[in-house]
Amino acid sequence: MVDVILGLQWGDEGKGKIVDYFAKDYDVVARFQGGPNAGHTLYVEDKKIVLHQIPSGIFHEGKVNLIGAGVVLDAVTFKKECQEVAAFGIDFKKNLFISERTNLILPTHRALDKASELSKGIDKIGSTLKGIGPAYMDKTGRNALRVGDILDKNFTTQYIKLRMKHQRLLDNFNFQEDISNWEEEFFEGLEFLREMKIVNGEYFLNEKISEGQKILAEGAQGSMLDVDFGTFPFVTSSSTMTAGVCSGLGIAPQKIKEVIGITKAYCTRVGSGPFPTELFDATGDFLRNTGNEFGSTTGRPRRCGWMDLVALKFACMINGVTQIVMTKADILDGLKELNLCTAYNVNGQVTEKVPFQMHKALIEPAYKTFAGWQTNLQAFDSFEKMPVAIKEYLAYIESYLSVPVKYVSNGPGRDHIIVA
Ligand code: GDP
Ligand code: IMO
Ligand code: MG
Repeated sequence: MVDVILGLQWGDEGKGKIVDYFAKDYDVVARFQGGPNAGHTLYVEDKKIVLHQIPSGIFHEGKVNLIGAGVVLDAVTFKKECQEVAAFGIDFKKNLFISERTNLILPTHRALDKASELSKGIDKIGSTLKGIGPAYMDKTGRNALRVGDILDKNFTTQYIKLRMKHQRLLDNFNFQEDISNWEEEFFEGLEFLREMKIVNGEYFLNEKISEGQKILAEGAQGSMLDVDFGTFPFVTSSSTMTAGVCSGLGIAPQKIKEVIGITKAYCTRVGSGPFPTELFDATGDFLRNTGNEFGSTTGRPRRCGWMDLVALKFACMINGVTQIVMTKADILDGLKELNLCTAYNVNGQVTEKVPFQMHKALIEPAYKTFAGWQTNLQAFDSFEKMPVAIKEYLAYIESYLSVPVKYVSNGPGRDHIIVA
Protein backbone atom coordinates (compact mmCIF):
# COMPACT_ATOMS: atom_id res chain seq x y z
CA MET A 1 0.00 0.00 0.00
CA VAL A 2 0.94 3.63 -0.39
CA ASP A 3 0.69 6.32 2.28
CA VAL A 4 1.20 9.98 1.51
CA ILE A 5 2.78 12.85 3.43
CA LEU A 6 2.04 16.28 2.05
CA GLY A 7 1.87 19.94 3.10
CA LEU A 8 -1.53 21.51 3.74
CA GLN A 9 -0.49 25.17 3.68
CA TRP A 10 1.94 27.18 1.52
CA GLY A 11 4.91 24.84 1.99
CA ASP A 12 7.57 24.55 4.70
CA GLU A 13 5.22 22.79 7.12
CA GLY A 14 8.00 20.46 8.26
CA LYS A 15 7.44 17.66 5.72
CA GLY A 16 11.13 16.70 5.66
CA LYS A 17 11.29 16.14 9.40
CA ILE A 18 8.06 14.13 9.44
CA VAL A 19 9.00 11.96 6.43
CA ASP A 20 12.34 11.22 8.13
CA TYR A 21 10.43 10.28 11.29
CA PHE A 22 8.00 7.93 9.51
CA ALA A 23 10.51 6.45 7.02
CA LYS A 24 11.50 3.67 9.43
CA ASP A 25 8.05 2.11 8.94
CA TYR A 26 8.28 1.95 5.12
CA ASP A 27 10.32 0.15 2.46
CA VAL A 28 10.35 2.96 -0.10
CA VAL A 29 10.16 6.76 0.08
CA ALA A 30 9.24 8.44 -3.22
CA ARG A 31 9.10 12.11 -4.21
CA PHE A 32 6.22 12.62 -6.66
CA GLN A 33 6.45 16.27 -7.78
CA GLY A 34 8.29 19.57 -7.46
CA GLY A 35 12.01 20.03 -7.78
CA PRO A 36 14.80 22.09 -6.24
CA ASN A 37 12.27 24.77 -5.25
CA ALA A 38 11.69 22.50 -2.24
CA GLY A 39 13.85 22.69 0.86
CA HIS A 40 13.21 19.90 3.37
CA THR A 41 15.15 20.24 6.61
CA LEU A 42 16.25 17.22 8.62
CA TYR A 43 18.41 16.84 11.70
CA VAL A 44 20.60 13.77 11.57
CA GLU A 45 22.75 13.20 14.65
CA ASP A 46 22.05 16.84 15.55
CA LYS A 47 23.48 18.03 12.25
CA LYS A 48 21.21 19.97 9.93
CA ILE A 49 20.78 19.09 6.27
CA VAL A 50 18.40 20.59 3.72
CA LEU A 51 17.24 18.24 0.96
CA HIS A 52 15.92 19.72 -2.27
CA GLN A 53 15.46 16.74 -4.55
CA ILE A 54 16.52 13.61 -2.72
CA PRO A 55 13.64 12.00 -0.79
CA SER A 56 13.79 12.47 2.98
CA GLY A 57 14.14 8.72 3.63
CA ILE A 58 17.76 8.72 2.47
CA PHE A 59 19.21 8.66 6.00
CA HIS A 60 17.60 5.30 6.80
CA GLU A 61 19.82 2.33 6.11
CA GLY A 62 18.29 -0.13 3.69
CA LYS A 63 15.34 2.05 2.64
CA VAL A 64 14.83 2.60 -1.08
CA ASN A 65 14.38 6.22 -2.24
CA LEU A 66 12.87 7.09 -5.61
CA ILE A 67 12.71 10.39 -7.49
CA GLY A 68 9.46 9.97 -9.42
CA ALA A 69 8.34 10.89 -12.92
CA GLY A 70 6.40 13.93 -11.68
CA VAL A 71 9.57 15.62 -10.40
CA VAL A 72 11.64 18.15 -12.36
CA LEU A 73 15.31 17.45 -11.70
CA ASP A 74 18.24 19.86 -11.74
CA ALA A 75 21.34 17.73 -12.29
CA VAL A 76 23.62 20.44 -10.84
CA THR A 77 21.78 20.75 -7.53
CA PHE A 78 21.33 16.99 -7.46
CA LYS A 79 25.07 16.30 -7.70
CA LYS A 80 25.82 18.77 -4.89
CA GLU A 81 23.10 17.27 -2.73
CA CYS A 82 24.42 13.73 -3.23
CA GLN A 83 27.86 14.91 -2.13
CA GLU A 84 26.38 16.48 1.01
CA VAL A 85 24.53 13.28 1.83
CA ALA A 86 27.70 11.24 1.24
CA ALA A 87 29.44 13.38 3.87
CA PHE A 88 27.06 11.77 6.40
CA GLY A 89 28.45 8.38 5.44
CA ILE A 90 25.45 7.49 3.26
CA ASP A 91 26.06 5.31 0.21
CA PHE A 92 23.46 7.09 -1.94
CA LYS A 93 24.35 5.01 -5.02
CA LYS A 94 22.96 1.93 -3.31
CA ASN A 95 19.49 3.11 -2.36
CA LEU A 96 18.67 6.07 -4.59
CA PHE A 97 16.74 5.50 -7.83
CA ILE A 98 15.50 7.94 -10.47
CA SER A 99 12.59 7.44 -12.84
CA GLU A 100 13.58 7.60 -16.51
CA ARG A 101 10.51 9.78 -17.04
CA THR A 102 11.66 12.50 -14.59
CA ASN A 103 11.94 15.79 -16.50
CA LEU A 104 15.22 17.69 -16.64
CA ILE A 105 15.65 21.32 -15.69
CA LEU A 106 18.01 22.98 -18.19
CA PRO A 107 20.15 26.09 -17.60
CA THR A 108 17.86 27.96 -20.01
CA HIS A 109 14.83 27.04 -17.84
CA ARG A 110 16.47 28.92 -15.01
CA ALA A 111 17.13 31.90 -17.28
CA LEU A 112 13.53 31.80 -18.53
CA ASP A 113 12.24 31.73 -14.95
CA LYS A 114 14.24 34.88 -14.21
CA ALA A 115 13.14 36.58 -17.43
CA SER A 116 9.49 35.75 -16.76
CA GLU A 117 9.60 37.07 -13.19
CA LEU A 118 11.35 40.27 -14.29
CA SER A 119 8.73 40.86 -16.97
CA LYS A 120 5.92 40.59 -14.40
CA GLY A 121 7.26 43.51 -12.33
CA ILE A 122 5.24 44.01 -9.13
CA ASP A 123 2.97 41.10 -10.09
CA LYS A 124 5.84 38.61 -9.82
CA ILE A 125 5.10 35.21 -8.28
CA GLY A 126 8.14 35.34 -6.02
CA SER A 127 9.47 32.15 -7.65
CA THR A 128 12.53 30.46 -6.21
CA LEU A 129 14.06 30.99 -9.70
CA LYS A 130 15.07 27.35 -9.95
CA GLY A 131 13.49 26.97 -13.40
CA ILE A 132 10.41 25.11 -12.15
CA GLY A 133 7.71 26.92 -14.17
CA PRO A 134 9.55 26.77 -17.52
CA ALA A 135 10.52 23.11 -16.98
CA TYR A 136 6.89 22.09 -16.36
CA MET A 137 5.82 24.23 -19.34
CA ASP A 138 8.13 22.17 -21.53
CA LYS A 139 6.58 19.00 -20.13
CA THR A 140 2.98 20.00 -20.88
CA GLY A 141 4.17 21.65 -24.11
CA ARG A 142 5.73 18.28 -25.05
CA ASN A 143 9.24 19.60 -25.57
CA ALA A 144 10.98 18.39 -22.42
CA LEU A 145 14.07 16.24 -22.11
CA ARG A 146 13.83 13.49 -19.54
CA VAL A 147 16.37 11.65 -17.43
CA GLY A 148 16.12 8.52 -19.62
CA ASP A 149 16.98 10.63 -22.68
CA ILE A 150 20.50 11.30 -21.42
CA LEU A 151 21.33 7.71 -22.30
CA ASP A 152 20.47 8.36 -25.98
CA LYS A 153 23.40 8.80 -28.37
CA ASN A 154 21.85 11.92 -29.88
CA PHE A 155 21.06 13.59 -26.53
CA THR A 156 23.33 16.58 -27.23
CA THR A 157 21.57 17.26 -30.55
CA GLN A 158 18.19 17.16 -28.78
CA TYR A 159 19.57 19.50 -26.11
CA ILE A 160 20.87 22.02 -28.65
CA LYS A 161 17.52 22.06 -30.46
CA LEU A 162 15.63 22.83 -27.26
CA ARG A 163 18.21 25.35 -26.14
CA MET A 164 17.77 27.25 -29.41
CA LYS A 165 14.02 27.31 -28.89
CA HIS A 166 14.59 28.73 -25.41
CA GLN A 167 17.04 31.29 -26.78
CA ARG A 168 14.33 32.65 -29.06
CA LEU A 169 12.00 32.99 -26.06
CA LEU A 170 14.74 34.73 -24.07
CA ASP A 171 15.29 37.12 -26.99
CA ASN A 172 11.57 37.91 -26.90
CA PHE A 173 11.92 38.80 -23.23
CA ASN A 174 14.93 40.89 -24.21
CA PHE A 175 16.80 38.94 -21.55
CA GLN A 176 20.54 38.51 -21.70
CA GLU A 177 22.67 36.46 -19.41
CA ASP A 178 25.82 34.46 -19.99
CA ILE A 179 24.83 30.91 -19.09
CA SER A 180 28.04 29.23 -20.27
CA ASN A 181 29.12 28.46 -16.67
CA TRP A 182 25.72 26.99 -15.89
CA GLU A 183 25.97 24.89 -19.03
CA GLU A 184 29.35 23.51 -18.09
CA GLU A 185 28.02 22.51 -14.66
CA PHE A 186 24.91 21.06 -16.29
CA PHE A 187 26.93 18.66 -18.45
CA GLU A 188 29.02 17.66 -15.43
CA GLY A 189 25.75 17.03 -13.61
CA LEU A 190 24.53 14.83 -16.47
CA GLU A 191 27.73 12.77 -16.32
CA PHE A 192 27.01 12.23 -12.63
CA LEU A 193 23.37 11.31 -13.36
CA ARG A 194 24.43 8.69 -15.92
CA GLU A 195 26.14 6.79 -13.09
CA MET A 196 22.92 6.65 -11.07
CA LYS A 197 20.26 3.95 -11.03
CA ILE A 198 17.81 5.09 -13.69
CA VAL A 199 14.71 2.91 -13.64
CA ASN A 200 11.21 2.57 -14.98
CA GLY A 201 9.63 4.06 -11.86
CA GLU A 202 6.07 2.91 -12.43
CA TYR A 203 6.96 -0.81 -12.79
CA PHE A 204 9.54 -0.42 -10.03
CA LEU A 205 6.91 0.82 -7.54
CA ASN A 206 3.98 -1.30 -8.64
CA GLU A 207 6.06 -4.48 -8.43
CA LYS A 208 7.07 -3.53 -4.91
CA ILE A 209 3.43 -2.88 -4.02
CA SER A 210 2.53 -6.35 -5.38
CA GLU A 211 5.23 -7.86 -3.17
CA GLY A 212 3.55 -6.25 -0.16
CA GLN A 213 6.16 -3.55 0.38
CA LYS A 214 5.13 -0.24 1.94
CA ILE A 215 5.57 2.99 0.00
CA LEU A 216 5.61 6.50 1.47
CA ALA A 217 4.99 9.28 -1.07
CA GLU A 218 6.65 12.57 -0.08
CA GLY A 219 5.10 15.82 -1.26
CA ALA A 220 6.87 19.10 -1.83
CA GLN A 221 5.38 22.61 -1.50
CA GLY A 222 1.82 22.65 -0.12
CA SER A 223 -1.82 22.40 -1.16
CA MET A 224 -2.31 26.17 -1.36
CA LEU A 225 0.54 26.24 -3.92
CA ASP A 226 -1.10 23.58 -6.11
CA VAL A 227 -1.24 24.64 -9.76
CA ASP A 228 -4.98 23.92 -10.04
CA PHE A 229 -6.41 24.46 -6.57
CA GLY A 230 -3.93 26.82 -4.92
CA THR A 231 -3.98 30.61 -4.84
CA PHE A 232 -3.50 30.84 -8.60
CA PRO A 233 -1.53 32.47 -10.19
CA PHE A 234 0.62 32.69 -7.04
CA VAL A 235 1.35 28.98 -7.02
CA THR A 236 3.99 26.53 -8.14
CA SER A 237 3.66 24.58 -11.40
CA SER A 238 2.94 21.06 -10.18
CA SER A 239 0.14 19.05 -8.62
CA THR A 240 1.03 19.16 -4.93
CA MET A 241 -2.02 17.21 -3.80
CA THR A 242 -2.85 13.50 -3.35
CA ALA A 243 -3.92 13.28 -7.01
CA GLY A 244 -0.32 14.24 -7.88
CA VAL A 245 0.88 11.01 -6.24
CA CYS A 246 -1.00 8.98 -8.86
CA SER A 247 0.13 11.03 -11.85
CA GLY A 248 3.63 11.63 -10.49
CA LEU A 249 4.44 8.03 -9.59
CA GLY A 250 2.17 5.97 -11.85
CA ILE A 251 0.18 4.55 -8.95
CA ALA A 252 -3.56 3.84 -9.03
CA PRO A 253 -5.78 5.79 -6.57
CA GLN A 254 -7.10 2.67 -4.81
CA LYS A 255 -3.53 1.83 -3.73
CA ILE A 256 -3.44 4.96 -1.54
CA LYS A 257 -4.35 4.43 2.11
CA GLU A 258 -3.34 7.04 4.67
CA VAL A 259 -3.02 10.67 3.63
CA ILE A 260 -1.00 12.38 6.33
CA GLY A 261 -1.39 16.14 6.11
CA ILE A 262 1.21 18.40 7.70
CA THR A 263 0.33 21.80 9.08
CA LYS A 264 2.21 24.21 11.25
CA ALA A 265 0.51 25.37 14.45
CA TYR A 266 0.42 28.76 12.70
CA CYS A 267 0.88 29.74 9.07
CA THR A 268 3.70 30.93 6.82
CA ARG A 269 4.16 31.82 3.19
CA VAL A 270 7.25 32.76 1.21
CA GLY A 271 6.86 34.67 -2.07
CA SER A 272 3.92 36.74 -3.25
CA GLY A 273 0.18 36.08 -3.16
CA PRO A 274 -2.83 36.13 -0.88
CA PHE A 275 -2.47 35.22 2.79
CA PRO A 276 -5.61 36.24 4.70
CA THR A 277 -4.27 35.66 8.23
CA GLU A 278 -0.89 37.34 7.69
CA LEU A 279 0.30 39.42 10.66
CA PHE A 280 2.21 42.64 10.12
CA ASP A 281 2.63 43.35 13.83
CA ALA A 282 4.89 42.29 16.70
CA THR A 283 3.23 38.83 16.84
CA GLY A 284 4.18 38.28 13.18
CA ASP A 285 7.78 39.25 14.01
CA PHE A 286 7.68 36.97 17.05
CA LEU A 287 6.61 33.98 14.94
CA ARG A 288 9.29 34.70 12.32
CA ASN A 289 12.11 35.11 14.84
CA THR A 290 11.11 32.35 17.26
CA GLY A 291 10.21 29.96 14.44
CA ASN A 292 13.32 30.94 12.47
CA GLU A 293 11.04 31.46 9.51
CA PHE A 294 13.56 32.10 6.77
CA GLY A 295 13.39 30.08 3.53
CA SER A 296 15.34 26.79 3.48
CA THR A 297 15.98 27.24 -0.26
CA THR A 298 16.32 30.99 -0.77
CA GLY A 299 16.87 32.40 2.75
CA ARG A 300 14.01 34.88 2.22
CA PRO A 301 12.05 35.91 5.35
CA ARG A 302 8.75 34.00 5.48
CA ARG A 303 5.49 35.89 5.96
CA CYS A 304 3.81 34.70 9.18
CA GLY A 305 0.27 34.64 10.56
CA TRP A 306 -2.39 32.69 12.45
CA MET A 307 -3.55 29.23 11.46
CA ASP A 308 -6.23 29.47 8.80
CA LEU A 309 -8.88 26.78 9.32
CA VAL A 310 -10.84 27.81 6.21
CA ALA A 311 -7.84 27.10 3.97
CA LEU A 312 -6.91 24.03 6.02
CA LYS A 313 -10.38 22.49 5.70
CA PHE A 314 -10.23 23.09 1.95
CA ALA A 315 -6.83 21.34 1.82
CA CYS A 316 -8.20 18.38 3.83
CA MET A 317 -11.10 18.12 1.38
CA ILE A 318 -9.13 18.14 -1.87
CA ASN A 319 -6.52 15.72 -0.52
CA GLY A 320 -8.73 13.31 1.43
CA VAL A 321 -6.55 13.82 4.51
CA THR A 322 -7.02 10.99 7.02
CA GLN A 323 -4.76 12.30 9.79
CA ILE A 324 -2.91 15.48 10.64
CA VAL A 325 0.54 16.13 12.05
CA MET A 326 0.82 19.57 13.64
CA THR A 327 4.38 20.91 13.67
CA LYS A 328 6.10 23.78 15.45
CA ALA A 329 3.62 23.84 18.34
CA ASP A 330 6.61 24.83 20.54
CA ILE A 331 6.93 28.13 18.66
CA LEU A 332 3.65 29.30 20.23
CA ASP A 333 4.94 28.64 23.78
CA GLY A 334 5.53 32.33 24.54
CA LEU A 335 2.14 33.66 23.42
CA LYS A 336 -0.60 34.63 25.91
CA GLU A 337 -3.38 34.30 23.37
CA LEU A 338 -3.75 32.42 20.10
CA ASN A 339 -6.13 32.96 17.22
CA LEU A 340 -7.64 30.48 14.79
CA CYS A 341 -9.29 31.82 11.65
CA THR A 342 -12.74 30.21 11.43
CA ALA A 343 -14.35 32.16 8.55
CA TYR A 344 -13.64 34.77 5.89
CA ASN A 345 -15.56 37.93 5.34
CA VAL A 346 -15.21 38.25 1.55
CA ASN A 347 -16.30 41.58 0.17
CA GLY A 348 -18.86 41.83 3.02
CA GLN A 349 -20.10 38.19 2.87
CA VAL A 350 -19.21 35.66 5.58
CA THR A 351 -18.08 32.29 4.24
CA GLU A 352 -16.20 29.18 5.31
CA LYS A 353 -15.14 28.48 1.73
CA VAL A 354 -11.98 29.47 -0.13
CA PRO A 355 -12.96 31.94 -2.86
CA PHE A 356 -11.94 31.86 -6.54
CA GLN A 357 -9.39 34.60 -7.41
CA MET A 358 -8.36 34.87 -3.79
CA HIS A 359 -5.83 37.53 -4.78
CA LYS A 360 -8.58 39.83 -5.99
CA ALA A 361 -10.96 39.32 -3.07
CA LEU A 362 -10.94 41.59 -0.05
CA ILE A 363 -10.73 39.04 2.78
CA GLU A 364 -11.25 39.89 6.42
CA PRO A 365 -10.53 36.84 8.63
CA ALA A 366 -12.86 36.08 11.57
CA TYR A 367 -11.01 34.66 14.59
CA LYS A 368 -11.73 32.52 17.60
CA THR A 369 -9.33 33.30 20.44
CA PHE A 370 -7.73 30.70 22.70
CA ALA A 371 -5.58 30.97 25.80
CA GLY A 372 -1.92 30.19 25.14
CA TRP A 373 -0.23 27.40 27.13
CA GLN A 374 2.80 29.54 28.06
CA THR A 375 4.82 26.44 28.91
CA ASN A 376 7.92 24.90 27.36
CA LEU A 377 6.36 22.17 25.20
CA GLN A 378 9.74 20.56 24.51
CA ALA A 379 9.76 19.40 28.12
CA PHE A 380 6.81 17.03 27.48
CA ASP A 381 7.09 13.48 26.24
CA SER A 382 3.45 12.43 26.35
CA PHE A 383 0.19 13.99 25.24
CA GLU A 384 -1.59 13.20 28.52
CA LYS A 385 0.85 15.36 30.49
CA MET A 386 0.52 18.32 28.12
CA PRO A 387 -1.25 21.55 29.22
CA VAL A 388 -5.04 21.78 28.94
CA ALA A 389 -4.68 24.88 26.73
CA ILE A 390 -3.02 22.94 23.88
CA LYS A 391 -5.54 20.14 24.22
CA GLU A 392 -8.34 22.68 23.79
CA TYR A 393 -6.59 24.27 20.81
CA LEU A 394 -6.22 20.85 19.14
CA ALA A 395 -9.74 19.70 20.01
CA TYR A 396 -11.19 22.75 18.28
CA ILE A 397 -9.05 22.20 15.18
CA GLU A 398 -10.09 18.55 15.00
CA SER A 399 -13.79 19.34 15.35
CA TYR A 400 -13.61 22.12 12.72
CA LEU A 401 -11.77 19.89 10.24
CA SER A 402 -13.38 16.55 11.16
CA VAL A 403 -9.89 15.03 10.86
CA PRO A 404 -7.86 13.76 13.84
CA VAL A 405 -4.58 15.43 14.80
CA LYS A 406 -2.52 12.30 15.45
CA TYR A 407 0.89 13.82 16.17
CA VAL A 408 2.21 17.05 17.63
CA SER A 409 5.76 18.04 16.77
CA ASN A 410 7.40 20.06 19.55
CA GLY A 411 10.90 20.70 18.19
CA PRO A 412 13.05 20.27 15.06
CA GLY A 413 14.81 17.07 16.18
CA ARG A 414 13.97 13.49 15.25
CA ASP A 415 12.66 12.75 18.75
CA HIS A 416 10.60 15.90 19.11
CA ILE A 417 7.26 14.34 18.33
CA ILE A 418 4.32 13.35 20.51
CA VAL A 419 1.52 10.95 19.66
CA ALA A 420 -1.72 12.81 20.38
P1 GDP B 1 9.47 21.44 4.68
O1 GDP B 1 9.81 22.16 3.43
O2 GDP B 1 7.99 21.21 4.82
O3 GDP B 1 10.25 20.18 4.87
O4 GDP B 1 9.85 22.42 5.88
P2 GDP B 1 11.22 23.29 6.01
O5 GDP B 1 12.33 22.37 6.30
O6 GDP B 1 11.36 24.20 4.85
O7 GDP B 1 10.85 24.21 7.24
C1 GDP B 1 10.48 23.68 8.46
C2 GDP B 1 11.45 24.21 9.53
O8 GDP B 1 10.92 23.98 10.80
C3 GDP B 1 12.80 23.50 9.53
O9 GDP B 1 13.78 24.41 9.90
C4 GDP B 1 12.63 22.40 10.56
O10 GDP B 1 13.86 22.02 11.15
C5 GDP B 1 11.77 23.11 11.57
N1 GDP B 1 10.84 22.26 12.33
C6 GDP B 1 10.08 21.22 11.89
N2 GDP B 1 9.25 20.80 12.88
C7 GDP B 1 9.49 21.59 13.94
C8 GDP B 1 8.93 21.69 15.25
O11 GDP B 1 8.02 20.96 15.64
N3 GDP B 1 9.43 22.65 16.08
C9 GDP B 1 10.44 23.49 15.69
N4 GDP B 1 10.88 24.40 16.54
N5 GDP B 1 10.98 23.43 14.46
C10 GDP B 1 10.50 22.51 13.60
P1 IMO C 1 8.86 23.06 0.30
O1 IMO C 1 8.80 21.71 -0.37
C1 IMO C 1 7.56 27.21 0.33
C2 IMO C 1 6.81 29.11 -3.55
C3 IMO C 1 7.75 30.20 -3.98
C4 IMO C 1 6.81 31.04 -4.83
C5 IMO C 1 5.93 30.00 -5.50
C6 IMO C 1 6.41 29.60 -6.89
O2 IMO C 1 10.15 23.36 0.96
O3 IMO C 1 7.67 23.26 1.18
P2 IMO C 1 8.45 28.23 -7.89
O4 IMO C 1 9.91 28.29 -7.59
O5 IMO C 1 7.82 26.92 -7.63
O6 IMO C 1 8.14 28.77 -9.24
O7 IMO C 1 7.79 29.29 -6.87
O8 IMO C 1 5.98 28.85 -4.66
N1 IMO C 1 7.48 27.83 -3.20
C7 IMO C 1 7.62 27.37 -1.95
N2 IMO C 1 7.30 27.95 -0.77
N3 IMO C 1 8.08 25.97 0.31
C8 IMO C 1 8.38 25.37 -0.88
O9 IMO C 1 8.79 24.09 -0.95
C9 IMO C 1 8.20 26.09 -2.07
N4 IMO C 1 8.42 25.83 -3.38
C10 IMO C 1 7.95 26.90 -4.05
O10 IMO C 1 8.26 30.91 -2.90
O11 IMO C 1 5.99 31.82 -4.00
MG1 MG D 1 10.78 23.91 2.83
